[in-house]
Amino acid sequence: MMEIVAAADSDERGLSLLRVVNILQRVVVFLHSFTVDKTRGQTSTSTSASKAQQMPGMSEEEVAKKVKEICQELILSQEALKEVCDRLQEEINKGLGKESNPEATIKCFPTYVRELPNGKEKGRFLALDLGGTNFRVLLIELGDKCTMESRIYAVPQPIMIGPGDGLFDHIAECLASFIKERNLGTELLPLGFTFSFPCKQEGLTKARLARWTKGFKCEGVEGRDVVELLKKAIAKRGDVKIKICAVLNDTTGTLMSCAWKNHNCRVGLIVGTGTNACYMEKIEKVELWDGDLEEPHQDDSHVEFLGVIINTEWGAFGDNGCLDFIRTEYDNTIDRESLNPGKQLFEKMISGMYMGEIARQVIVRLVAEGLLFDGKSSDILQEKGSFFTKYISEIESDEDGDFNNCYAILEELGLNNATDADCANVRHVCECVSRRAAYLAGAGVALLLNRINEESVSVAVDGSVYRFHPHFHNLMVEQVSQLIKPGIKFDLMLSEDGSGRGAALVAAVASRTSAMR
Ligand code: GLC
Repeated sequence: MMEIVAAADSDERGLSLLRVVNILQRVVVFLHSFTVDKTRGQTSTSTSASKAQQMPGMSEEEVAKKVKEICQELILSQEALKEVCDRLQEEINKGLGKESNPEATIKCFPTYVRELPNGKEKGRFLALDLGGTNFRVLLIELGDKCTMESRIYAVPQPIMIGPGDGLFDHIAECLASFIKERNLGTELLPLGFTFSFPCKQEGLTKARLARWTKGFKCEGVEGRDVVELLKKAIAKRGDVKIKICAVLNDTTGTLMSCAWKNHNCRVGLIVGTGTNACYMEKIEKVELWDGDLEEPHQDDSHVEFLGVIINTEWGAFGDNGCLDFIRTEYDNTIDRESLNPGKQLFEKMISGMYMGEIARQVIVRLVAEGLLFDGKSSDILQEKGSFFTKYISEIESDEDGDFNNCYAILEELGLNNATDADCANVRHVCECVSRRAAYLAGAGVALLLNRINEESVSVAVDGSVYRFHPHFHNLMVEQVSQLIKPGIKFDLMLSEDGSGRGAALVAAVASRTSAMR
C-alpha cells in the first residue's frame, strides 16, 4: 500500500521528475529535429536547439498585439456568458424533468439530503474521501467546535484505471490501517463516504456510479452501487466493522460544511481537479424525486427550507454540443486526447485537470508562430501535461511588471532564454485561460442563485483552483454580479473541509432524522 503523510500532490511529484528530464534534455538537445504542425500550417520546433520560422522584424508591441489577437477566442463577451447562463437553465430544467432526464446531459441527481445542519450536531464520525489522486480517511469530532484527524493515502495510477475490485480493496485496506493505528476497532462509528463522481442516488446510502470522470476508469463499477462495493471489500477482509450512514458528493459536503454555521448557505461549488455544483431545490420542482414528499419528517423548529440538495453534475454541460459556440480548437484537442472524449466538456474548460494543458497548447502555438522565445521550444514544453495548472496561479501571483515566478517556471520547462516581453505574453495566456474558467463558473453560480431566488445566499466553494489562484474569487464575484437578478445578495465563502466535516454532518443529520421517525 502506498501511503504518504504530507499532502504531496501529483503536480509536485511531477515537478521533481521534470527537473531530471530538464537536465537530460539539455544533453540530448541537438539530437532532435523539426516537426511540422500540419493543422496550422506552421513550422514548429520540438527542441530548443532548432530554429522556427520567426516573424521577421516585428517589434515587441507588434508581437504582443498578435499574441492578443490569437488569445481573443478565449475571451468571452458578456452576451456569450449570458447565453451560457440561459443554456444552463434549459439543461438543468431537462435534468430535473422526469420525461426529459434520460436524455439530459446535466443529470441533476437528487441527493436525499433534505435537511441542512443546525449547528448542534455532535459525535464522533469516520469519513472516507475519494475524488482525486489521493484518498483520505478522517476521524471527526463534532461538538461546539469541529476537530479532525486525517491521513492521506495515494491512489496509484494503475489502481485508478485498473479493475474496480482493486480500487475498493485499496480503500478498505487504508480504512483498516487507519482504524488499527488509532485503536478505533471497539467502537461502531458512523461513517460518511464522500465519493466525488456522478452517481444516481437511490437513497442516502445507495449510489450507483453513472460514469467515471477525472482520470478514473476502473472496470466493473459503472452502474453499480459504490456503497455495496465498499461493504463487500470490507467484509472480505473481516477485520473492521463500520456503519455506513451516508454517501455523498464533494459538492454536498462543501455545502453542508458551510451551512453548519452559516444558515443561508444554499449552493456548494467545487473548482478543483474537476468542477461541479449542488444547490437546494424546492421539492416540487424536482419531478425526478421519487422519495416520499414528507420524508424525512422534519422538525419545523430548525428546518427553514423544505427541499432537497441537487447534485447537478454540471461538468457534463455542453456534452450535447450546446457549448460549441464558445469552445476552441484547444478545447477540442484536450477532449480528443482525454480518457473520456465527448464527456465533461464544461469541466474541461474550467477545472484544474485541464487548465494548465489549455495554456500549454496556446503557448506551443505561439512559439510555433515565432511569437514567443524567439520561436524556440523545448522538449518539456512539447510534452502533454507538462504545464501544470498551478503554474497559472504562480505566474499570476507575480506582482505587475515582475516576472520572478514566470522565469522560474519557464526554466523548469527548459526555456532558458525568455525575455520580459515573453513573460508578459505568457502571463497574458494564463490570464485568458483562468479568466474564462472563472467567468464560466461565475455564470453557472449566477444561474443557480437566480433559480433559488432568495434575498441573500451564501455559496460554499472549495477546490484547488479556487483556493490557490490569486484572482479566481474576485473574477467569479465580478461575473456573478453581472448576471444575477437585481436585488439578490450573495457571497462566495471558502468552505473548510467539505469532504470531511461535510461527510460527518450528512451522517449526523441522517442519524438525527432517522431517530425522529
Ligand atoms: C467531477 C465529478 C463530480 C465532482 C467534481 C468535483 O465533475 O464528476 O462528481 O463533484 O468532479 O470534484
